Amino acid sequence: MIRTIVCSDYAEMSRRAADIVEAEMLLKPDCVLGLATGSTPEGMYAELVKDNRDGKISFAAVRTVNLDEYYPLAPDNDQSYRYFMNYHLFDKVDIDKANTNVPDGLAADTVAEGQRYEALIDSMGGIDLQVLGIGRNGHIGFNEPGASLDTYTHCTDLTPSTIEANSRNFASIDDVPKQAMTMGIGSIFKARRIIVMASGKEKADAVACMLAGELDTNCPATLLNLHRDVILIADRAALGE
Ligand code: F6R
Repeated sequence: MIRTIVCSDYAEMSRRAADIVEAEMLLKPDCVLGLATGSTPEGMYAELVKDNRDGKISFAAVRTVNLDEYYPLAPDNDQSYRYFMNYHLFDKVDIDKANTNVPDGLAADTVAEGQRYEALIDSMGGIDLQVLGIGRNGHIGFNEPGASLDTYTHCTDLTPSTIEANSRNFASIDDVPKQAMTMGIGSIFKARRIIVMASGKEKADAVACMLAGELDTNCPATLLNLHRDVILIADRAALGE
């Protein structure tokens, strides 16, 4: 079931998402957070950093698993999702880096890496709260639209539309990796609660498709209708208003 929190703009979406993450951390200081990268959660991470600095929340016992990582890409590459997480959150809060996890973008054996990551999530007791963004094409993590979807963590080809959308962060479109390691739909569904953040009119089609309630592997976010606890935090533009 998807509940929707309507926000006026990006700033409000960021604050509301941070409130939910912080509530989880207060209730369960050693919670497992599933985290996303991209432009959408940057503002939420800034709120979390501020509240950590102000002493309102502590990451000291928090454990994290990120959704995905470009493949192949080294963790110290400034376009990697490991670099993103260090820059936007981990380096700025009191988290123990040993408790943070991102799929290995340099794994020699991607099948083995998928199995390792899945076992890791299970060994942590699953994910308490998963944060998701949504792709313009409806992808979640890097589960791209297609005839079928993968259940667990795997290596996937990025679609031309995702490569184009993400090229804004690279020197040229040719520099965007063509593949990624990503949690599968089943990995995401291991989360006890999921929040999906969406901002801007570029996301309106994908959000409308998700809220229409039909399941369609060509819009992977529609699968979220099967999960029992999903909260969409979206601004009016993303809701097509
Ligand atoms: C990022 C991820 C992706 C993004 C999506 C939206 O870890 O898994 O699914 O959430 O591509 O990206 P932005 O927020 O940049 O529009």
